[in-house]
Amino acid sequence: MVHQRADSRIEWWKCCSIYQIYPRSFQDSDGDGVGDLNGLLSRVDYLAWLGVGAVWLSPVCRSPMRDFGYDISDYTDVDPLFGTLADFDRLVEALHERNIKVILDVVPNHTSDQHSWFVKSRSSRDDPKRNWYVWADPGPHGGPPNNWLSRFGGSAWEWDARTEQYYYHAFLREQPDLNWHNPEVRSAFADVLRFWLRRGVDGFRVDASAVLAEDPLLRDEPPNPDFDSETPPPEKFNRVFTDARPETMSYIEEMRAVVEEFSDRALLGEVQGGIGRIGQFYDGERPRFHLPLNFLLLDTDWHAATLAAGIDQYINAIPDGAWPVWILGSHDKPRIASQLGLAQARIAAMLLFMLPGTPIFYAGDEIGMPNAMISSEDARDPFEALVPGYGLNRDPERAPMRWDSSEKAGFTTGEPWLPLGDHVEERNVASQQGDRRSLLSLYRQLIALRQTEPALVAGRFQPLRSERGVLLFERCSDDKRLLIALNTRDSSRTCPLQSAGALRLNTHLDRKDERVESQLHLRSNEGVVIEVLTSSA
Ligand code: GLC
Repeated sequence: MVHQRADSRIEWWKCCSIYQIYPRSFQDSDGDGVGDLNGLLSRVDYLAWLGVGAVWLSPVCRSPMRDFGYDISDYTDVDPLFGTLADFDRLVEALHERNIKVILDVVPNHTSDQHSWFVKSRSSRDDPKRNWYVWADPGPHGGPPNNWLSRFGGSAWEWDARTEQYYYHAFLREQPDLNWHNPEVRSAFADVLRFWLRRGVDGFRVDASAVLAEDPLLRDEPPNPDFDSETPPPEKFNRVFTDARPETMSYIEEMRAVVEEFSDRALLGEVQGGIGRIGQFYDGERPRFHLPLNFLLLDTDWHAATLAAGIDQYINAIPDGAWPVWILGSHDKPRIASQLGLAQARIAAMLLFMLPGTPIFYAGDEIGMPNAMISSEDARDPFEALVPGYGLNRDPERAPMRWDSSEKAGFTTGEPWLPLGDHVEERNVASQQGDRRSLLSLYRQLIALRQTEPALVAGRFQPLRSERGVLLFERCSDDKRLLIALNTRDSSRTCPLQSAGALRLNTHLDRKDERVESQLHLRSNEGVVIEVLTSSA
């Protein structure tokens, strides 16, 4: 079933629900235990059934996989582990046939150290590509040029014995940073974007986009005043000279201009950092991102009042007319079902799709996938190996998707590259597709409701006082008022209502079209959407 757009005049990236797929873990087609494009192709009908309007695909380009695809050695080819360019084209076509847009993850900040650009750059100080990366002489007393730290541990500078200079890497040493101050780099990357746009992708998620530029003076970062023994060592300094630099903003504007050469495309940006700085990523002199990604729902304590305050702060922090965006899971963050438990995972889902702005969720969250337990010794994520002991391993949220309750969960016929994790029996697609009260059914109904109800897409957002653990707000269009009430507590609640209403959907999926009078009763962990019945609506 392809759901109808709520309003065809609104851009697709505002209307649709976006589904992030980590291709290594979605569906394997050749038995090597790693997901691939043909596997994904075999699941496009599931995506259409679920009602997602766009797929964001984590990187599938050629890569030595030190950071599982975020270390790219060829920007214009598909890694053989995932398939071929022809497979990619077939996948795009199949998704488009189902009215599903394709958003490709691109990684402009760094390449793999195997990329031919870097191989040339490190071959000699005189190589024409030398200045495509960030090279510097040792500091005045020898050693690295300054105190900059890699996010993945240790100095961000790596010594190159052959050419006797250091190169900069914000992430792994195998991920050297491109020198975005160099116009040749920017022009080469613009061509990378055009390559994929011509192949029909509808947009990009731009990886690590806030850290493209570094201070040309290479000034030392100042100490982080909040740093203590529990803070991971990479956070010892505040990233003033390597993060969200003014030049980065203009480079993002250049990328946006490239995307604008094509019609109806969208640019999503991984910008990190707190709410206070997210607004600048929408527009400056010129437009920047359509959707700078917002992780607030994953980073806020799960209490109605705290959530209400965070939502308010975010809505007020983005510029007038900017379109909000919400994320409920990703390949970098612990799973929502493990963070909150299954009962509140339903509340989180209802919140995601009822808030104003574009909802983004992560494959597997719709069936309540938990973090897979992976010991430190078995960790595949380099982050865990380099900064151990702080719970930074990202493998748990990258465990394979479960399609059924068979031994390998329908993901592969071989040995999955990461363990499947617990609760496969009930938390898999097949079991939940057959259960009309499952979390999967709830996701599907929430997506459908948002797609068919204009008040939920373009309607006003009206916060209400959230008390005693119930988060309350309204979404209103000219002719409709929807009241959303979410009980974040494990005990029942009663809320007074100003007008009667009709219950449209509840998170338990066991009440429908019930009339609600002056009191709204919510069971523990129950969320409801109520259409307010009032002549003045
Ligand atoms: C982004 C990706 C993350 C990756 C990092 C380095 O934060 O989401 O998975 O490790 O960039 O490319």
